[in-house]
Amino acid sequence: MALAATRTPRPAPRIVESVRELQAFADAARAAGRRIALVPTMGALHAGHLALVEAAHARADLVVVSIFVNPTQFAPTEDLSRYPRPFAHDLAACAEAGVDVVFAPTSAEMYPPGSQTWVEVSELAQPLCGASRPGHFRGVATVVTKLFGAAKPHLAVFGEKDWQQLAVIRRMTRDLCLDVEIVGVPTLREADGLALSSRNVFLAPALRREALCLVRALDAAERAARRGERSRTTLLGVAAAELSRAPHGSVDYAELRDPESLEPAPERIEAPVLLALAVRFPVHGAAPGASVRLIDNRVIPTGHAGEDAP
Ligand code: PAJ
Repeated sequence: MALAATRTPRPAPRIVESVRELQAFADAARAAGRRIALVPTMGALHAGHLALVEAAHARADLVVVSIFVNPTQFAPTEDLSRYPRPFAHDLAACAEAGVDVVFAPTSAEMYPPGSQTWVEVSELAQPLCGASRPGHFRGVATVVTKLFGAAKPHLAVFGEKDWQQLAVIRRMTRDLCLDVEIVGVPTLREADGLALSSRNVFLAPALRREALCLVRALDAAERAARRGERSRTTLLGVAAAELSRAPHGSVDYAELRDPESLEPAPERIEAPVLLALAVRFPVHGAAPGASVRLIDNRVIPTGHAGEDAP
């Protein structure tokens, strides 16, 4: 990505593995009056992650990237063991992007023996990915709370690609009075529109082409809404028609919901609405039946009919 190329070279990031060391770093930075931004990741960094780093640099003096494949957000049946872990590549990407600290703890460091505290956001975590991945957002909210305690950031940056995750984290931060500003960054896409994801590497080329059904469904629904379509059923039908053009895709969910509360949209839509999609594709060469689940979403501007026609 060209974003970091114009930056003057910076020293390699400091690698920190212990919570205590990161807290000491944060204390010293805060005492020196410096603003800390945290970018939580599970590694396998791509340009989408680096867009978050760029947004962090624009708002803070020091950028901490955490790289931790958090076991508690994976169900036992999920892809924890085959989640990509290209640490050397990630470190080089962080160096290039001018990251100050890479926090790369072990699981034992984040979940020491005896750990028994969980953060659960009750309602926002129920639908969409929460329904197909029970316990997922409990794992996310818990690890992000721990990362906030470890990095003591002034702000933390997350991608809108994981819209529900961002909503859960915003709610959790407010509910727990955590003194961290949450910044959301729009989804970065490949030239053909596919949302960047660490899981795209599992797609064989033919399925990579089929995966474009997600962004096509978003585009088609948005076009229909801009033409004045206000029926939830019709908009979902438009999206479903695009999704059905991927013969190997199996739709996990395709839903229209309120962008903030994530409540189901009414049949007649009068306000901007979130179209959230998740589709599974088979992974060849992995365990029989293995699949990769891709998500994408867009807030569709549906004001009063005709208002936002192009
Ligand atoms: P991960 O999937 O590595 O994503 C880290 C961050 O990058 C998330 O905030 C995600 O929304 C953002 N991101 C991913 N793809 C993006 C894209 N194409 N454009 C913009 N941002 C993108 O999300 C997680 O890790 C974990 O759940 C985590 C928050 C780190 C907790 O373990």
